[in-house]
Amino acid sequence: MPSTNLPLARQTAIVTGASSGIGKACAIALGQAGANVVLDYVGNPTGAEEAAAQIRASGGQAMTVACDVSQEDQVIALFQKAVAAFGTVDILINNAGLQKDSPFVDMSVADWDLVLNVNLKGQFLCAREAIREFIRRGPRPDVSVALGKIICMSSVHEIIPWAGHANYAASKGGVDLLMKSIAQEHGHLKVRVNSIAPGAIKTPINHEAWDSPKAEKHLLQLIPYKRVGLPEDIGKLAVFLCSDDSDYIHGETIFIDGGMTLYPGFEDNG
Ligand code: BGC
Repeated sequence: MPSTNLPLARQTAIVTGASSGIGKACAIALGQAGANVVLDYVGNPTGAEEAAAQIRASGGQAMTVACDVSQEDQVIALFQKAVAAFGTVDILINNAGLQKDSPFVDMSVADWDLVLNVNLKGQFLCAREAIREFIRRGPRPDVSVALGKIICMSSVHEIIPWAGHANYAASKGGVDLLMKSIAQEHGHLKVRVNSIAPGAIKTPINHEAWDSPKAEKHLLQLIPYKRVGLPEDIGKLAVFLCSDDSDYIHGETIFIDGGMTLYPGFEDNG
């Protein structure tokens, strides 16, 4: 059993899209911080199982669940399984997301719908089930000041327009006001809701942008801090935002991007 001194001890977290990249790193970090972790995946059980094994190796509890977050019945079943296994849900990492890039004039309705359904509707469905469960279960002052915590995984592209990725940028712009609206609506219940907006992080979603020296050099022109981020950078922030150490942070988006949002084109005096 993990130590009860760990910041997320005796809390249960659902992490969507936990089989790779940022979701996998968040799941492992939360597990190492003491949470029981329910790892949602679509199509890649091996990645989710690897993360679950790492959590168990560090003394935590973990289970994997196949669920497409864009499907209401599957999301309801995901929460039911988490509650059946661990009694309740305290934390949601609303992370599952994908890209389907194309020039705007060639973008198909199918590609638009896929990205909006997973990245935005999926966050709506999971946040709704999480808040329903927080309310059903009631306060647990022995584990957290908050009734529950939700982190929406956004992107620097909630504010940086992105040619060739209009569906993705629109979904992340939507996540911004979804997060703020549900934070405003449920703050009085002590449901704490925030977003993490990563910049370029080394994950499978953008491997072409960093997995050759030429590509990485090009990408670093967009990053004043001159380092491509790692999934673990996001995992550490997720733990902090789920812990009572950040109890007064509510309805906020934390950019974690090595300065990508600092208009790096002006680095050299414009
Ligand atoms: C995207 C990545 C991209 C990064 C910075 C992320 O939201 O998923 O593909 O590298 O933003 O542009």
